[in-house]
Amino acid sequence: MSDLGLFLTQFIRRPSEIRAVVPTGRAAAREMARVISPDMPAVAEIGAGTGTITRAILNRGLPPAALELYELNAAFCDRLRQLFPGTRVHNLPAQEMVNVGRRDLDAVISGVPVLALPDDIQTAIVGAALTMMRPGAPFVQITYGPNPPLSETVRNRFGLRHDKSPRIWANLPPAQVYVFRQKGAT
Ligand SMILES: C[S@@+](CC[C@H](N)C(=O)[O-])C[C@H]1O[C@@H](n2cnc3c(N)ncnc32)[C@H](O)[C@@H]1O
Repeated sequence: MSDLGLFLTQFIRRPSEIRAVVPTGRAAAREMARVISPDMPAVAEIGAGTGTITRAILNRGLPPAALELYELNAAFCDRLRQLFPGTRVHNLPAQEMVNVGRRDLDAVISGVPVLALPDDIQTAIVGAALTMMRPGAPFVQITYGPNPPLSETVRNRFGLRHDKSPRIWANLPPAQVYVFRQKGAT
C-alpha cells in the first residue's frame, strides 16, 4: 500500500489520533526541518506518521542514527522502520520519551496535533520534550489555524517564546510552522 493509502486507512480507523486526511506536503516538511543541521548528535520527531517530515529531516544531512521517532500508530511504525533504517522508532506516545529516549536533544520536531488536545496532554508532551532537550533547543510544531499551536496556559507555564514561518499555501491545508524556545535559555 502507498504511504497515502496507509495514511488514509489509518485516519478512517483513528481520526481522533491522526486528525489529518493527508500527510504533510513537501514544502511544509522542509520548513519543519529547517532547524536541523548534520552535526546534531540527537534529534526526536514526534507523531512521525508515514514519514514525510522524517524524510525532510534526513535530507538535511542528519545521520539516521541521530534520529528517534515516536509514533502512537503501530502500522505507521512498521512503515517508518521499513523506510528509515538506522533510526530508532518507538511505538509510544511522545509523553513517554522520558522513559526510553536520548537526552540532550538538539531539537524536537512535532507533527502531533497538539492544539486539538486538552491542556493536560499538551503539558505532558511539551514537558517531556523540554526535559529531554538541551536548554534553548527548538520545539518545532506544525499547525493549520490562525493561532499559536500551544495553548496560552502551556506557553506561559513553560515560558515559551516563538517564531513562525509565513503561511505555506502549497500545503493541504495551508500550514504554518512555529519554533518554540524557552525564554532565557541560551
Ligand atoms: C496529523 S498526523 C501527522 C503525521 C506526519 N507527521 C505528517 O506530517 O504527515 C499526526 C500523527 O501523530 C500521531 N500521534 C498522535 N498523538 C501522538 C502522541 N501523543 N505521541 C506520538 N504520536 C502521536 C498520530 O498517530 C499521527 O500519526
